[in-house]
Parts: sequence; structure tokens; C-alpha cells
Amino acid sequence: MDNGESFNTRAVHSGEILDDRFGNVITPIFETATFMSPNRSADPYIDSSRGEPFLYTRWGNPTTQSLESKYASLEGVKYGLSFSSGMAAISSAVFAMCSRGERILSINELYGQTHSFFSSYLERFGIGCDFMGIDQANSLSFDPEGHSLIYLESIINPTLKIADIERIGRFCREKGIPLLVDATFASPYNQNPSQFGATVVLHSGTKYISGHSDVTLGMAGTDSRDIFDRLLTVRRTTGPIPDPLQSYLAARGMKTMGLRVEKQNRVAMEIAKFLNQHRKVIRVNYPGLDESPYHTIAKRVLRGYGGMVSFEVAGGLIGARKFMASLKIPAVAASLGGVESLVTLPVETSHSSIPAEGRKAMGIEDGLVRFSCGIEDSQDLINDIDNALDAL
Ligand SMILES: Cc1ncc(COP(=O)(O)O)c(C=O)c1O
Repeated sequence: MDNGESFNTRAVHSGEILDDRFGNVITPIFETATFMSPNRSADPYIDSSRGEPFLYTRWGNPTTQSLESKYASLEGVKYGLSFSSGMAAISSAVFAMCSRGERILSINELYGQTHSFFSSYLERFGIGCDFMGIDQANSLSFDPEGHSLIYLESIINPTLKIADIERIGRFCREKGIPLLVDATFASPYNQNPSQFGATVVLHSGTKYISGHSDVTLGMAGTDSRDIFDRLLTVRRTTGPIPDPLQSYLAARGMKTMGLRVEKQNRVAMEIAKFLNQHRKVIRVNYPGLDESPYHTIAKRVLRGYGGMVSFEVAGGLIGARKFMASLKIPAVAASLGGVESLVTLPVETSHSSIPAEGRKAMGIEDGLVRFSCGIEDSQDLINDIDNALDAL
């Protein structure tokens, strides 16, 4: 169901497997590892990746396929594929698109695990990686020659700088080089990178897509049948398909993504404005603030500015630890994008594997706090933040 309906209608109805014989209203959990083979039904359900009846869940499963169709509809791409984590989606995409002896060109400001995958792990497979700064990428001051793909995150974790994917996407299309975009922080509600020319869109579905901090998931979307087939081959071969229960939970979460992210956009804007005038806050990163150096780009490439805010509190690392310990509502925990607010110190979590000089180059100070806004009432969160800042 994808006949020009708007986001929330597609979120609820697209991809659902409804069977008149049962009269079910939502897609069931097909918790089965294997399927009758051959399938002797006159009208069997078809694994759309092969155009044949389902065979074995590592290859494809109806609940998982339902999740993938819903995602593809919300991402505005022809093909969606799910993985058992965001890192599984990212690594599978790179292995699908690069061979020994080839090189990637990536922005430097990446999620820490992606950064170490590119900078050290890939070497063992003979795949090299060169890094550029996000501002270098945005000003197109790079030469894609000799690289098999360009890789970037559309909203940078945790500094919330914004990639100009419209400009970079156009450039990559002109040069005929594939562009891979991790749009986890934006979510498909706020941004569809394929609209700007991204060849593959990637998500940690653990975050806004499933939205309840109860699922670990990755998603990949593309308009290219060839790339989809290559991704499928990697997934079949290495095995990181989500199980049917995980797929069900993620698809259920996706139905409310529009409602959740809409609210998270609002909560984040209110918190960012509050922090921006607080004397114990040195700097606020939020692309929705007029004074953000990335606001102009953000207005062009995002439909909403997202639910993530980061800020530097007075007192460096000690101050940040004290601030976080004084908060009552958000849990201090890694991850983001759930209905509950979460807060982290990037130097101790997502970016702890990156040496101090590397973090400085990315703009990550020791006292930087990353706040993932949930759907709680913003005034409660602001009161809580205010009290915690008073403790400094
Ligand atoms: C931007 C970004 N990409 C990818 C990942 C990896 O996702 P996962 O933890 O689901 O493997 C994360 C995890 O935090 C992330 O923040």
C-alpha cells in the first residue's frame, strides 16, 4: 500500500501481510526457521527477494519481509533489507560494494565503531579508507578519484553537524561514484537521503526506527536491484538477518515513528533553546537553532531537526559527570532514539575508542554531553536539566 499516502498512513499500513483466511489485522510473527519445501500451495506467499516461496529464514521470512517493505515505503526506495544490527548493515554494505585493493573515502566524524571498522578492521580484507572532514565534504574540496564509494553520516554523532547531502549527492552522481549515507540520527521521518542521490541509505534501526530501546536492528535501502542483490548475498552468506520476533517489534515501532519523532523534534528544540541561554552551558549543538553554523544546510536537507542535542557544560569532564549524576528522568545509557530520554558522555561511550587528539579534531570536548530526547513532556525534562545544572 503505497499509493501516494502520507508518512503516517504508510507507516501503519504498508508492508502488512493480511490474510483473509485468518482475518488478521496486523502481520503475525512467523517464528519458524524453515518452510515446507517444495511448497505445494496453489497460492503460496512469495519471498520477494527471489520471487519464490519462502525457504529458510536466513534467506528471508514473511515477518522480516513485511518490516523491509514498510521501511522501503517510508524511506522512499525500491528495496529495503534488514540486518541484526546497524553495524551489520554498515559492514554488509561495505563488503557488498568493495573488493580487495579498493579504497573508501569517508568523513572522519563517524560513530566510533564505524570509524574503527574503516580505519583498522577493513585493512585485514585489503580494503583501505581515506578520511576527510565534514566541512571538506560539504565544500566539495575532495577528489573522489580512486575511491569505490563515498561514506557519510547525514547528522554527525555527537556534534550534530549536518552533511550537505544535496550538494554531495549531486556531485557523486555527476562523478558516477556511489554515496552511502548513515541517516540514523535523522530517521526516515526527517530525511530520505535517496531523494538527494544517496545510492544506499543505512540505519541503526535500534534507534528511531524501532524507537523503544528494545530491539537491535539495522536497515539498508536502495533503488538499485544490483546493489540489493549484492547486499542479500552478503546477508545470506554471513547470516546477520534479524529474527522474526525482532522484525515484528521493529515493524510495530515503525508504525508510530512519525508521532514519536515529531514530538522528539519539538522536545529537542525546546531543550536546545533553554540550554542556549543558560550560564552554565558553554556551547549547544542543535541544527534547529538559528545560530547553528549548520542551520542553513539543515533547513534544506531535513524536514525536522531531530531529537538529539549535545552541549558542553561548565567544569569539563568532572562537571559533565556531576551533571549527569544529578539528572532524575533520563537514564545514563548508550544508544538513542527511544521513547525515553537517554544521556551519555561521548568520551566515555560512543567515541571512547578514538584517541583524544582524534576526538578533538572531531570537535568532541571532554565535557560534551549528548542528550537523546524521548517523548516525555518537555517542561519536566527542562526542570530536571535546570536542577542538574544548578548542582554544578
Ligand atoms: C550513527 C550510528 N550508526 C550506526 C550505529 C550502530 O548501530 P547498532 O548499535 O545498531 O549496531 C550507531 C550506534 O549507536 C550509530 O549511532
